[in-house]
Amino acid sequence: MSRVTQFLGQAEIGERVKAVACAIRADAGPDVPVHLVGVLKGAFIFMADLMREIGGPVSCDFIAVSTYAGTVSTGQVQILKDLDRSIEGRYVVVVEDIVDTGLTLSYLQDVFRTRSPGSLKTACLLSKPSRRRVDVPVEYVGFTIDDRFVVGYGLDFDEQYRNLPFIGVVGED
Ligand code: IMP
Repeated sequence: MSRVTQFLGQAEIGERVKAVACAIRADAGPDVPVHLVGVLKGAFIFMADLMREIGGPVSCDFIAVSTYAGTVSTGQVQILKDLDRSIEGRYVVVVEDIVDTGLTLSYLQDVFRTRSPGSLKTACLLSKPSRRRVDVPVEYVGFTIDDRFVVGYGLDFDEQYRNLPFIGVVGED
């Protein structure tokens, strides 16, 4: 495994997760049940921390998609595992690790819209706007970053590095 240079530290990530959680709860209102839909696998750590910071009634479900081989976006989205429960009428927040080209999220938002949620919003930990190929709405963004491939805090390179507590760049000094 190559060396990973830290880019965003644990404390910095924790603060932004809290801020995103506060914004989600403030927008939803104090008593509205928020239904988080995590996009596996990359979002699972962000989702776990975010969920614990939101407070009030919160439930969760997961969808698994495959879009990437290595670092190359194929633009092909495949649902590997669908949601367990209906999202009809629910206050849904899609939780993504990173929005890069936006193709994955755009596809998922289209799918979820056909299922008649009461509200559909998206929270992503990281966003790379310079890479965007489709205009996709993202209400909550943890960090906006430049075009670089990052790992850690759930994000992988060939299934490695997800367990790093920080976000970093592989093989850079
Ligand atoms: P998009 O469809 O191009 O927006 O890609 C979204 C997915 O690509 C994310 O959910 C990640 O799984 C993966 N991805 C994009 N950029 C990175 C990165 O820098 N590190 C790790 N995974 C990435």
